[in-house]
Amino acid sequence: MLIKSRRGWELPESAVTPESVYINRRSLLAAAGAAPIAAGLGGLLGTGAARAQMVDPTADLYPVTRNLRYRVERELTGEEEATTYNNFYEFGSHKQIWQAAQELDIRPWTVTFDGMVEQERTVDVDTLIRAMPLEERVYRHRCVEAWAMTVPWSGFPMAALVDFARPLSSAKYVRMETYQDEESPGFRQFWYPWPYVEGLTMEEAANDLAFMVTGLYGKPVPPQNGAPLRLATPWKYGFKSIKSIVRFTFTDERPVSFWEELQASEYGFWANVNPEVPHPRWSQATEKLLGTNERVPTRIYNGYGEFVASLYDGMASTERLFL
Ligand code: MTE
Repeated sequence: MLIKSRRGWELPESAVTPESVYINRRSLLAAAGAAPIAAGLGGLLGTGAARAQMVDPTADLYPVTRNLRYRVERELTGEEEATTYNNFYEFGSHKQIWQAAQELDIRPWTVTFDGMVEQERTVDVDTLIRAMPLEERVYRHRCVEAWAMTVPWSGFPMAALVDFARPLSSAKYVRMETYQDEESPGFRQFWYPWPYVEGLTMEEAANDLAFMVTGLYGKPVPPQNGAPLRLATPWKYGFKSIKSIVRFTFTDERPVSFWEELQASEYGFWANVNPEVPHPRWSQATEKLLGTNERVPTRIYNGYGEFVASLYDGMASTERLFL
């Protein structure tokens, strides 16, 4: 991950993504003629003033009841910290993107279900959200860069979304894709393999912990945290928790994620949290808590082993589960 404005515990950009990686990608793209990156939802953009006045049409749904099955023995991170210190490369490869992200047009917004499904379809996000069983869950979030937060997400189990999509039994993975348009400044960084893509196995997607986020701190989730629909997979490093999703594709081929395509030796498909497996360029033994900067030990599966360890039984020796 690139980090430009550094705090004491952050890594310099040079220590994170080596120049050779993005330079190589840049020259590859140039050689290939670099098809225009801007595509997709460009026609949906309104004026800045209209955006500023827009009230989220799901605002009436919040707050929702907290599900006490998901307890965390940690203080909640302050709302201001969690909503002003973000990773959202579509708006820049640094943490201070929250103001720029207000330009993201979160309505109208559609979500497409395609690939190995009974019937491909595209639905309006409000129709989808209102059809789902909303609840609040307090989850830990552990970024691969070794910072962490604890926040109350609102949303619904990913299993409910999978039911809604009606995948074929032959589907093995779900591939998720973020919006892409010419307005967000990050897309000008054309050496990144846009759009942002992530993937899970069908078993992971059906696991109780996998959660589709629509809200945060008892309100609709703000743009900088991935409005109107993002993923939370708290046992995995944060980059798996893809933001502002527009497409779910069911497939029998393992998806290649944004970060895996950029640097597979550092950001793998599984990305399960494990303090004993260092990132190739830094330790994962501890993490800094957003807000207090307290450093605490990292736990295997980010402390969620009771929910997910069985997903990986028998795989540990053959697969790189923790990179
Ligand atoms: N999703 C998209 N589309 N773009 C991104 O840059 N960053 C990921 C993840 N999802 C990212 C994304 C990373 S690295 C992390 S740690 C989390 O979002 C950060 O979520 P937060 O900003 O809500 O804390």
